[in-house]
Amino acid sequence: MDLRPIIAVRRDRGIHSAEDLTQLAVAAATGSAPDYQLAAWLMAAFLNPLTERETADLTLAMANSGQRLDLAPLPKPWVDKHSTGGVGDKTTLVVLPILAACGLSMVKMSGRGLGKTGGTIDKLHAIPGFRTDLSPTELLSQAQKIGLAIAGQSPDLAPADGTLYALRDVTETTGSLPLIVSSILSKKLAAGAETVVLDVKWGRGAFMATREDARALARSLRDVGQRCGLRVEAILSSMDEPLGAAVGNALEVTEALDVLGGSTDGPRERALALATEVAALALVASGKFGTEPEARDAVAHAITSGQAHDRAMAWFAAQGAELPLLLPIAPTRTTLRADQAGWIRDFDAEIVADALLDLGGGRRTKSDAIDPRVGFVRAVSVGDRVAVGDPLVEIHAATEAQIAPAEASLRRAIKLSPEPVSRPPLWDRSF
Ligand code: URA
Repeated sequence: MDLRPIIAVRRDRGIHSAEDLTQLAVAAATGSAPDYQLAAWLMAAFLNPLTERETADLTLAMANSGQRLDLAPLPKPWVDKHSTGGVGDKTTLVVLPILAACGLSMVKMSGRGLGKTGGTIDKLHAIPGFRTDLSPTELLSQAQKIGLAIAGQSPDLAPADGTLYALRDVTETTGSLPLIVSSILSKKLAAGAETVVLDVKWGRGAFMATREDARALARSLRDVGQRCGLRVEAILSSMDEPLGAAVGNALEVTEALDVLGGSTDGPRERALALATEVAALALVASGKFGTEPEARDAVAHAITSGQAHDRAMAWFAAQGAELPLLLPIAPTRTTLRADQAGWIRDFDAEIVADALLDLGGGRRTKSDAIDPRVGFVRAVSVGDRVAVGDPLVEIHAATEAQIAPAEASLRRAIKLSPEPVSRPPLWDRSF
């Protein structure tokens, strides 16, 4: 397929027809046009952004480039939850089992992490035996049995996005809002969702640096989603400090299970608070509950009754994990302690993310292997008071040699104030 006429339309600031965008998505999905033509179109689309109508057409074209799951065998409502990703963001691992325990059905496609924001698929790969290559049939049959199933990017669902995403990554075109929106929503449509609840993160540890950027992304996802027949709700959440206590793949799985088991120690309290908010929004948006207080009660019951935790274990087992779960453990551990007294003023998520990459716990390039064992467990968050000698954070490393540089990074990340510091708000819903 020769994409030159389509590239020329974009280069000359023209408007694409739906057929242009279908051709483009088919070419990306089937490999019938050369990568250099797709890359040229991506750069033209980066420089001359798609309109909202074109973004919706591209979204539908990418969703239709592979199979579209028909969730008809599953009880309604059909919901998906999506986070734009952040440091220590294990919200998906907490929210999905809660929603399944509350009676929703979810089939979800999720991504791998790159750079400072980790990916849900990488966290799940920390669980020995966990499979993320489920076929569409396996996804449906598992979701019928336990209410949820998850897969990584595959040739079956939205394959055009798989190709375009990989090319965007190596052509400096990831940052285009219409390309981000169509990429996210095409996967939701392909996986059969009707309602999508988004956790759009902003701040030093997120893809979107400012709240204004996050707001623009949330609005565009809502508006384009509507044009494609999706109901989209969103929370904007701050990612200036890591979310919860753990940062690192296996450690975050452990924390998710702790939170589902009712633990609210220290920084875990905020991880649970955000998960509750996202879950309650999903339960109301999908029509399962009429009001948010009712939905929050249902979330609290799913946790206190143990049903959400049980659902997580059933989910892990259904996707291949051996029970009892034996998550990999780092061989070296040390606790960093406060060398002065005061209130925590800052816990810089970006420095923490870099320190995790230094430990081997994330990917700087697509082909990097991840050490699932390493990471950090925070004992404190912004606003906490500490005395000299109090624990600040536990470092989990692969070797002794990694400890000193990690400690130095964390000392830079954590700043104290002699005055009390109030906790910054974690989320808001105005966009
Ligand atoms: N997540 C996606 O799926 N696509 C993007 O482009 C960005 C985040």
